Amino acid sequence: MSDILLERRSIRKYTNEEVNEKDLNYILHAAMSAPTAKNTRCYYFMIIKNKNTYKKIAKVHSGAQMILNAPLAILVLGDTNLAFENYLPQDCAAATQNILLASKYKGYGSVWCGIYSNCKRSKAIENIFKLPSNIKPFSLVIIGKSAENKQVKNNWQPEKIKYEFWK
Ligand SMILES: Cc1cc2nc3c(=O)[nH]c(=O)nc-3n(C[C@H](O)[C@H](O)[C@H](O)COP(=O)(O)O)c2cc1C
Repeated sequence: MSDILLERRSIRKYTNEEVNEKDLNYILHAAMSAPTAKNTRCYYFMIIKNKNTYKKIAKVHSGAQMILNAPLAILVLGDTNLAFENYLPQDCAAATQNILLASKYKGYGSVWCGIYSNCKRSKAIENIFKLPSNIKPFSLVIIGKSAENKQVKNNWQPEKIKYEFWK
């Protein structure tokens, strides 16, 4: 078993293999197990497999072209009516990260495609999915069995660690 935290990479090429229902449920369960401010659980998860929808997304999101050859995408949404103060993005980011790690744990590759806080991109995604005004698109996670050989990176940077004081 690989180390899901230290060996995760963004995966942008996928085989045709589907993400099976049991694994998808685990991934969604992990997303819903992320910490959320004041336990508001202000997130929703839209499962997307439709190829026409993929084309619409690819037209408005330059960083999500890999969706055209992916078996599955999850659109992470936040509900402004439920969120505590301004914590919607933090809650959705924690859920997004859990999706990436749960995908890796189940043997899939994935990539986080940013939507929040790009206003133009958000509006376009809101239109595609006919979202009510309180439901904000946060991220799009594309998932599939990896078809690329990504090297594990060593991201250890001791200079990023400060002890007790800045200097
Ligand atoms: C907020 C956010 C937005 C991102 N948006 C995109 C994106 O639109 N398209 C993409 O291919 N990767 C996107 N990424 C993935 C990053 O490019 C990637 O995590 C980074 O280059 C480090 O590579 P690694 O994930 O393989 O370690 C995004 C990551 C984050 C956290």
